[in-house]
Amino acid sequence: MSFRIALFASGSGSNAENILNFFSGNQNYEFPIIISNKKDAFVHERAKRLQIPSVTFSREDFLNGENILRFLVDKKIDAIVLAGFLLKVPAVLIDAFPDKIINIHPALLPKHGGKGMYGHFVHEAVAASGDTESGITIHYVNNNYDEGNTIFQATCPVLSTDTPDMIAEKVHALEYEHFPRVIAELWG
Ligand code: GAR
Repeated sequence: MSFRIALFASGSGSNAENILNFFSGNQNYEFPIIISNKKDAFVHERAKRLQIPSVTFSREDFLNGENILRFLVDKKIDAIVLAGFLLKVPAVLIDAFPDKIINIHPALLPKHGGKGMYGHFVHEAVAASGDTESGITIHYVNNNYDEGNTIFQATCPVLSTDTPDMIAEKVHALEYEHFPRVIAELWG
């Protein structure tokens, strides 16, 4: 029996694509669906190209969670990976998938996390902070933004001359290197 993972993504979806490529041909895992909250997100283009179904749920669905839960149960999903997903995960999903929802955050939590801290905003905050390092945090998802237990962190240096774009590039490289491997080790 393969382990069935739903990917949640709100934007470009480069992490989702990297995960799909990493697990491509691995019979132990299936990725039956990509779920988004934005119907015009570029992740849908990637999904089409990779021949993975993708679907968009409304803001109301993400507030309430029941429709999404039914959908995931129907698809026999075992776990959820947030790969650049920017909304709060509804409590009914957190209750239904204990320790089976993980997120990647593009900084070293507990620094630079919380509501509104996503994507480029994070790298701007890091650049403005004077921190000499940034990195990635892969963590379990609970009912508070970015506060679930940490599974893995990796760091990269930040120079005083680095722009937010330059930090983003280093952090993305860490994401691509580690996220799929950490998923495989967690649910191997
Ligand atoms: C990634 O850097 C991910 O860590 C971040 O959004 C980006 C999505 O890029 N997630 C968060 O900020 C969550 N708080 P992608 O769509 O190209 O994978």
